[in-house]
Amino acid sequence: MASYLPIADDEKGYELDLFCVPRHYENDLEKVIIPHGLIMDRTERLARDIIQDMGGHHIVALCVLKGGYKFFADLLDYITALNQNSDKSVPLTVDFIRVKSYCNDKSTNSVKVIGGDELSSLSGKNVLIVEDIVETGRTMQTLLSLLSECNPKMVKVVSLLVKRTPRSSGYRPDYIGFEVPDAFLVGYALDYNEYFRDLSHICILNDQAKEKYKV
Ligand code: PRP
Repeated sequence: MASYLPIADDEKGYELDLFCVPRHYENDLEKVIIPHGLIMDRTERLARDIIQDMGGHHIVALCVLKGGYKFFADLLDYITALNQNSDKSVPLTVDFIRVKSYCNDKSTNSVKVIGGDELSSLSGKNVLIVEDIVETGRTMQTLLSLLSECNPKMVKVVSLLVKRTPRSSGYRPDYIGFEVPDAFLVGYALDYNEYFRDLSHICILNDQAKEKYKV
């Protein structure tokens, strides 16, 4: 089973005024739960684990947009650094897919995949799917079943976060950064109705903000 850094349910987190948070979000957040520096340190180690397992072959890194874009960029920077500083290296190419299933703080039960036609180019490739968070697991299971129709050679999934929730289908990614409590998390590209992607720490959203940014 994939190892991960657990964030406990009773984790107190950090007061907002200990870190730099954009002024426009100051009243919307409960606390910082994973500071940006810790995200980067854990991501560096995930890059090493991935290269050790998948490093023998050309990797196609598939970014699941929009939430995955920051983790994808930072993970690939660490993989690139490993590639340019060791005797063995692997070619890395990138691809992007847009998937959407959440409105307000709820999963909509319908997973919309945009850009799915491009998946056919992954046939015969070693694919690393890069995702920000697995909650119910429905998005990833939908994507994996679509991908399997294109016959890739190997598929691995890395998710920065996995939520401990009774709504989980039981799906677990191959590589996990952190296992997090069942709270609504934003920041580091995780959004609430498109807001909070421009926040570098992962934070817990407060209840007033859920109302304020509701659609
Ligand atoms: C979020 C997240 C995952 C998915 C996880 O995407 O980025 O793709 O939900 O949830 P699940 O495991 O319950 O399926 P969202 O629909 O919010 O789109 P976004 O990435 O554009 O923010």
